[in-house]
Amino acid sequence: MLLVIDSANIEDIKELVDYFPIDGVTTNPSIIVKEKKNFLHLLKEIRDVIGNDRELYVQTLTFKATEIVEEAKYIIEKVPGKVVIKIPATIEGIKAIKILKTLGIRTMATTIYTPLQGYVAAKAGASYVTPYVNRIDNLAGDGIQVVKELTQILDKHKFNCQILAASFKNVQQVHNVCVNGAHGVTLAPDIIKNLLSHPSTEANVSMFNDDWYKEYGVKSLLNQNDVKI
Ligand code: E4P
Repeated sequence: MLLVIDSANIEDIKELVDYFPIDGVTTNPSIIVKEKKNFLHLLKEIRDVIGNDRELYVQTLTFKATEIVEEAKYIIEKVPGKVVIKIPATIEGIKAIKILKTLGIRTMATTIYTPLQGYVAAKAGASYVTPYVNRIDNLAGDGIQVVKELTQILDKHKFNCQILAASFKNVQQVHNVCVNGAHGVTLAPDIIKNLLSHPSTEANVSMFNDDWYKEYGVKSLLNQNDVKI
């Protein structure tokens, strides 16, 4: 199951790649503009941090299929390493996904709000489909249910397409898509860190360390020659 960073912030990506088992980085135009850097330079910076083997997901900007395809080719030409082209699941986007499939360019259908949008994108040849869990919830829909039903469709009919769920505002939503069949999640840096955060875990670690110190007078398993007994 994929764990992907949903950010273009270099410091955050560096830190997360160092500590967590990260599979890639997703971006979208809104995420890119926040960094106030040249688009291609920023993507190359991200590539330098994550290496060539992790996937970098880059979203197109235009509306017409022909233009989307040209943007996709441009990104593939300019950005080294494994790149997946993110394309909104509009009718023009689906046409572009079909064309890019014939060119061997991998795509992710993004801005998915219904299981049937995901089905059409998978059938068009997208390698990934990306339901927007929190944005669906904000429309009084049920993002988790969309992921669950899309999983049923893709798995039952053996589509070669993975659900990389996106748009999360809390860890509970992440938990729910994980147990309902998502093949991966892309998460903002603070949510990735929150996956491990639990006050009882911190308290237990301190207690173990204190117990050891009280008995042996050291706070590490190393330097056993310094211990009192
Ligand atoms: C990722 O692929 C999406 O672009 C992103 O997760 C959307 O998330 P948001 O709803 O938090 O903006």
